[in-house]
Amino acid sequence: MTIQHPSFGTMPEDRVIIFDTTLRDGEQSPGFSMNLSEKLRMAEALAELGVDVMEAGFPIASPGDFESVHAIAKSVGRRHDGPVICGLARTGRADILRAAEAVRPAERRRIHIFVSTSPLHMKVKLRMTPEEVLAITAESVTLARQHTDDVEWSAEDGSRTEADFLCRCVEAAIGAGATTINIPDTVGYALPEDIAAIFAMLRERVPGTERVVLSTHNHNDLGLAVANTIAAIRAGVRQVECTINGIGERAGNASLEEAVMALRTRADAIPFATGVRTQNILRTSRLLSTITGFDVQPNKAIVGRNAFAHESGIHQDGVLKNPQTYEIMTPESVGWTRTSLVMGKHSGRAAFRDKLRALGYGEVGDNQLNDAFRRFKDLADRKKVVYDEDLVALVDDEVVRGHDRIRFVSLDVRAGSKGPQRAVLELEIDGKVRAAEATGIGPVDATFNAIRAIFPHEAKLTLFSVGAVTEGTDAQARTTVRLEEDGKLVDGQGADTDTIVAATRAYVHALNKLLVKRVRTEPAALSA
Ligand code: KIV
Ligand code: ZN
Repeated sequence: MTIQHPSFGTMPEDRVIIFDTTLRDGEQSPGFSMNLSEKLRMAEALAELGVDVMEAGFPIASPGDFESVHAIAKSVGRRHDGPVICGLARTGRADILRAAEAVRPAERRRIHIFVSTSPLHMKVKLRMTPEEVLAITAESVTLARQHTDDVEWSAEDGSRTEADFLCRCVEAAIGAGATTINIPDTVGYALPEDIAAIFAMLRERVPGTERVVLSTHNHNDLGLAVANTIAAIRAGVRQVECTINGIGERAGNASLEEAVMALRTRADAIPFATGVRTQNILRTSRLLSTITGFDVQPNKAIVGRNAFAHESGIHQDGVLKNPQTYEIMTPESVGWTRTSLVMGKHSGRAAFRDKLRALGYGEVGDNQLNDAFRRFKDLADRKKVVYDEDLVALVDDEVVRGHDRIRFVSLDVRAGSKGPQRAVLELEIDGKVRAAEATGIGPVDATFNAIRAIFPHEAKLTLFSVGAVTEGTDAQARTTVRLEEDGKLVDGQGADTDTIVAATRAYVHALNKLLVKRVRTEPAALSA
């Protein structure tokens, strides 16, 4: 039987809805928080990618969350071919009304209600009886339906829920008007056969499941999120919840790019279609890494630096003769471009722009392009070969810094074994250059003391790490700095051939993120 869906109309039986939760489940994991303009950029990219539903946030969680869901509903949500904009809510009236208000400007909007259904969660977390959970399931879905005809209901910790009770809850949710039923493997505990059995059982035992979209939401604690997602599709599920790069709580969620490419590459065995424009995958993944400062690991499927790299002679030989010897999908199909452009100090702006496109950055704004190009020329003067990785590090450093209040200007450091080490630093703050000199136990400490002298703050440094972008002694250093203020964590990244400059850029990046967080929570706290 085909499903009549309020947002998607008559659904072809072989169509899988891609529900992206990068901006909600992904964003709520430590270090991945984004400010409003970053969320809007990500939302644009997700719409370009072709996701069907975008879970834009959890509106009751904070004024900032509400504002970003509302802004996304007003922008991406107004596109005639845009995705359904979804806001998350618990079962309480205040949550549901806040979510309804946040998604209201969108042409197609969804309220997503979740409640725990497992014995452990109900007892320990909710302190509610199963009968109470059943009652609020029906009440909350009924209330949400008064605000939109597209309502999703989720059984949190569904995979550890007792079967009869899960069936009763799902029946109650459908009875109250839910149009999508989602059964999350919240703790990433289930095996593919468990997931398949849950959906087979629901389809067999619960009247009405044939009229709604069944949905799967898998966490990756055992590395099984994508396998579980595929098992669910085979068991009749037609919505999969996933995130770009697999980000999300703890070990993350099912990765969108892996699930989508599994469907496309193995259409012989799993013949289902999605609306994803797969050639946009790499640039969306890159944008997320740029915004959050977290790269994917080199061997990450689909979007990792090595996903299509062939190192051994035998493999290289095979690929040259016929790429299919070792490639099960083409790199181009997910946005990689084979390019012969080698970048050096004689490369011009047009070549630089082309190279950025080839690296998956899409269109970079003129101002950001100019800044990045200036830094590239500076790097090319200092470094014999500018590798793609160098450009990625440099552009990541530049592209998302457009609105930063604090900017790095210059640094002069005295290092070596005869202390004290000393730093003379210049930063631009709200357009004015300020300078300070400081000493410290080592050049990094001296530089960070200089930052504090220019821009006094109480944030604690909780992580400082350094890695090399490429090989060789002229490689750029890529540094991460984590700051903590009032329980809020922010990570900053920086890259430069000088490790101390990279560290300074990372610290400044983190400070800028902290300022944005302060504005979101307490508007009066802007001054340093
Ligand atoms: O993992 C989970 O259970 C969730 C729900 C809120 C859907 O993210
Ligand atoms: Zn989740």
